[in-house]
Amino acid sequence: MQDTTELGRLEGKVALVTGAGRGIGRAIAEQLAADGAKVVINDLGGALVGGGRDLGPAEAVASDIRAGGGEAVPNGGDVSNWEDARGMVAQAVDTFGRLDIVVNNAGVIRTGMSFNTSESDWDLVIAVHLKGTFAVSRFAGEYWRERAKQTGSPVDAAIVNTSSPNGLNGGSPGHVNYAAAKSAIATMTITMARELAPYGVRCNAIAPVAFTRMTEELWGSGAFVDDNREAFSPQAMAAVVGWLASPRAGDVNGQVIGINGRSCVLWESWHTVSSAQTTDERWTVEGFGSAAETLFAGRDRGIPS
Ligand SMILES: NC(=O)c1ccc[n+]([C@@H]2O[C@H](COP(=O)([O-])OP(=O)(O)OC[C@H]3O[C@@H](n4cnc5c(N)ncnc54)[C@H](O)[C@@H]3O)[C@@H](O)[C@H]2O)c1
Repeated sequence: MQDTTELGRLEGKVALVTGAGRGIGRAIAEQLAADGAKVVINDLGGALVGGGRDLGPAEAVASDIRAGGGEAVPNGGDVSNWEDARGMVAQAVDTFGRLDIVVNNAGVIRTGMSFNTSESDWDLVIAVHLKGTFAVSRFAGEYWRERAKQTGSPVDAAIVNTSSPNGLNGGSPGHVNYAAAKSAIATMTITMARELAPYGVRCNAIAPVAFTRMTEELWGSGAFVDDNREAFSPQAMAAVVGWLASPRAGDVNGQVIGINGRSCVLWESWHTVSSAQTTDERWTVEGFGSAAETLFAGRDRGIPS
């Protein structure tokens, strides 16, 4: 259900959504536009596994939003390209006069076990997800910091990143590059929340699960059955982003929210769960062996579930 309260409204705000030509990104752009934001629709328009370039998907979303009475412009940049990332932020400011919300959503997938992942499969997935999320946020952060310094008061801005359950629980075998990137995005979310908080910028992340082309091969199995179409729709994921980007979430910072159908969960970063000390001057192999008994006491020593 749409949040029509004043706090949920984004009137006067400008958003940049990456990978907004399809899937979850498209739904996020539509949600933010419906809530009153002007939106830069970034999408390289490539294949699921990367490669190719087509402004068509970004243009189609922008023109649909405009047809519905909203304001939107397309951007065909590659998030993993430093200058393109700079250009997206600049386009928002040049076109709409400001930037308030960045949603880092663009993504590709290249499956493969660690032992047969190619260098290009590793590089592309890390580049689009990790470098791409960083690059766009980096230029947005620079812009917000400048604005805060010029006006002498914090800006009221928000970044929403896209992690994945795969990156938070180690994932299933076959997605090592993707899991590494998505895990790093979750950690980077906390780092950037700390760095940008003084300037009035919140930085949070979602870990979605949705029916899109990225999950097409899973449709019909597990939770991806017709009865769950709405609960796992891109629009359902977008609603949470709409909330996180709005003043309703004004005190939420450095958080990672998982959305799994009608359930949502709060993820927490790596944290210590037990400790042990040595009575010797420093650790020795034997000394650590004794301490390990305390460290693992009552705990499973195998792969975390
Ligand atoms: N679908 C899921 O269940 C699921 C689960 C966890 C995380 N995610 C994440 O959600 C995000 C959106 O995924 P989706 O399922 O909507 O996939 P999707 O393939 O439908 O959409 C991703 C979009 O990103 C664009 N893109 C790819 N590389 C780009 C680049 N370098 N620069 C700009 N745009 C680029 C693509 O053209 C595409 O339109 C991704 O980050 C994905 O990893 C999805």
